[in-house]
Amino acid sequence: MRVLVTGGVGFIGANFVRLTLRERPEVAVTVVDAMTYAANPETLAEFGDAIEFIKGDIADPALMDDLVSRTDLVVHFAAESHNDNSLVDPSAFVQTNIVGTYTLLEAVRRHGVRLHHISTDEVFGDLPLHTDERFTEATPYNPSSPYSSTKAGSDLLVRAWVRSFGIHATLSNCSNNYGPYQHVEKFIPRQITNVLSGVRPKLYGEGTNVRDWIHVDDHNDAVWTIIDRGTAGETYLIGADGECDNTTVVQTILELLGQPTDAFDRVTDRPGHDLRYAIDSTRLRTELGWQPRYVDFRSGLSATVDWYREHEAWWRPFKDAVESTYARTETVIG
Ligand code: NAD
Ligand code: TYD
Repeated sequence: MRVLVTGGVGFIGANFVRLTLRERPEVAVTVVDAMTYAANPETLAEFGDAIEFIKGDIADPALMDDLVSRTDLVVHFAAESHNDNSLVDPSAFVQTNIVGTYTLLEAVRRHGVRLHHISTDEVFGDLPLHTDERFTEATPYNPSSPYSSTKAGSDLLVRAWVRSFGIHATLSNCSNNYGPYQHVEKFIPRQITNVLSGVRPKLYGEGTNVRDWIHVDDHNDAVWTIIDRGTAGETYLIGADGECDNTTVVQTILELLGQPTDAFDRVTDRPGHDLRYAIDSTRLRTELGWQPRYVDFRSGLSATVDWYREHEAWWRPFKDAVESTYARTETVIG
């Protein structure tokens, strides 16, 4: 069996490739990745010829036609993925997340190849703080940002191609991931690498926003579970009951790195900042028998802190550019 992994040099896609090589030696892997700013060539370098790597754009119809024609399964991670970037310039988000997904869907339709589409819980918008409300597969779409609205658009395209053209696809919407190989622009790696660089972590606004954290290996294990046992045309929500407010995440990182827990700055809030995400993954657990392995967020975070401490050569070349971009819009407010 050959699997085509789009965006396989990015954070979640690269961890998916690693998990697949580790646990499924019978699967041959092709990675297609445009190598945008978000892709670090070192991430998969150690695998050499153990994977087939193609540098290319998912919005290139001829390339997608060729790659899809010689694969058995497509797992579609490729996307522009960062909310803050989407607020500065949404154009790449529309191009990759919508036009790119459309281009891939047309190739999948022509060649009758199975697709698993990776998406986010951010398509549902946000939930109020301090309630028990959680997203389910029945929650209506209500995205807030250019990022989440283009991901919502990509999900709707996949659903329409299932209904109208009968393609064999499954979808998943997952909560916020953490773990190794995440770009330093994202919340957790940014704060860890700030502290490791002697810089104070930066918390948006009051820091009361809540995210539902899941370890990237749990996400990818759930993706394989859906590929193995999911029903064609269906959507599954992936989450590990990891709700935590941003201030607590920053304080835990500071504590794990031996710093005072108040050694952070509050900075200008993100416009349109979603308050809270929380996933009800009952369907995935009861129908497909999936369980997360990383149930203790603090110990998963501690392992992630250790990973960034031990892999400075991987993240250091990206750090200054990310911080100078943030510095253009961020003001310390407390
Ligand atoms: P990432 O930004 O780390 O990686 C994205 C990868 O896609 C990069 O390697 C990039 O070079 C590649 N890419 C971008 N545009 C491309 C194009 N036009 N053609 C080919 N490759 C292209 O993102 P991530 O965090 O690994 O997210 C992967 C997927 O998971 C995305 O679809 C995202 O919406 C979804 N998701 C992410 C999270 C999260 O917490 N990070 C949570 C739920 C769902
Ligand atoms: P992020 O990792 O960008 O993921 P998302 O926006 O997809 O949830 O941000 C996670 C949370 O952390 C979000 O509430 C915004 C907040 N945040 C900060 O407080 N400081 C930061 O430097 C960043 C990047 C994010």
